[in-house]
Amino acid sequence: MVASRATFVALVCALALASANVEDMQNPLTDEFINLINTKQNSWKAGRNFPVNTPLTHIKKLTGVLVDTHLSKLPKVEHEVELIASLPENFDPRDKWPNCPTLNEVRDQGSCGSCWAFGAVEAMTDRYCTYSNGTKHFHFSAEDLLSCCPVCGLGCNGGMPTLAWEYWKHFGLVSGGSYNSTQGCRPYEIPPCEHHVPGNRMPCNGDSKTPKCHKTCESSYNVDYHKDKRYGKHVYSVSSKEDHIKAELYKNGPVEGAFTVYSDLLNYKNGVYKHTVGNALGGHAIKILGWGVENGNKYWLIANSWNSDWGDNGFFKILRGEDHCGIESSIVAGEPLFVEV
Ligand SMILES: *[C@@H]1O[C@H](CO)[C@@H](O)[C@H](O)[C@H]1NC(C)=O
Ligand SMILES: *[C@@H]1O[C@H](CO)[C@@H](O)[C@H](O)[C@H]1NC(C)=O
Repeated sequence: MVASRATFVALVCALALASANVEDMQNPLTDEFINLINTKQNSWKAGRNFPVNTPLTHIKKLTGVLVDTHLSKLPKVEHEVELIASLPENFDPRDKWPNCPTLNEVRDQGSCGSCWAFGAVEAMTDRYCTYSNGTKHFHFSAEDLLSCCPVCGLGCNGGMPTLAWEYWKHFGLVSGGSYNSTQGCRPYEIPPCEHHVPGNRMPCNGDSKTPKCHKTCESSYNVDYHKDKRYGKHVYSVSSKEDHIKAELYKNGPVEGAFTVYSDLLNYKNGVYKHTVGNALGGHAIKILGWGVENGNKYWLIANSWNSDWGDNGFFKILRGEDHCGIESSIVAGEPLFVEV
């Protein structure tokens, strides 16, 4: 669905929505809309994540995947039938790799359509750990990818997950923590804003510019920018068949996926999300970690990049097995390169 909605998604992301769709759209943050979702289904619970007056410009910047023209050019991985036959009914990678703390992490893209970069660096960070069975850690910088990869797309106005992974392989990425963290070479420069009520962060204004590409580390970080870079060894897409995605998560760790965000998802609190009401807002990239079954509903477990006060502590579950909102059709991942020193 992400691909088949190509034109629409491109418009939504690239033009930051100056279109007529905006006027037609009902405000998805009202109590009436939230109640409507809860009366129409019972697999997931809607509630308030954003103040009702959050500017639409901010909501728009919560997504940010452009039509990924490069997806078909990547090698496509399929897994062995023996592995698939051995997969459990539920899988949470935090049980398999307890020494990989970033599997618990939820980041915040702020008012910037940089989800394409976040989904990528989140999965790369986890994979640096899972591929070393919990013995190596490196927190890849969303800032470095967002600001220094012009071919990835349009920075804060959207980008392509596949090109983010290619950039990692060919140019490498430095380390970097969250906003104000002073962790790593290039921490994120865009502040988190308030999308919870009541809260104490700055209000979301929705107009963050793409940060500049600085090929230097923060002064407090005592490593040379080029020496800090870590690279990908292989980059690939994964078959859109459910079993192959599961096998990839189980064997190698989290992947980056993309799907169409409808306005009802903004109000997700818990349960297994299934699109119920509301308009498409745009393509959105995320990190898929695991899977399971809840009250008979099969789901994928996903980390969003809208801070930990959104949804289920920053995570959500989405219907699995029918390419819901395109969630199974654009899976990208890769293997980190470990260089002996
Ligand atoms: C991975 O790490 C865990 C925890 O330290 C350990 O129990 C397990 O044997 C390791 N697995 C492999 C394949 O090295
Ligand atoms: C970031 O850190 C600076 C300096 O410590 C501080 O003045 C500012 O309030 C912090 N910003 C946020 C959003 O926490």
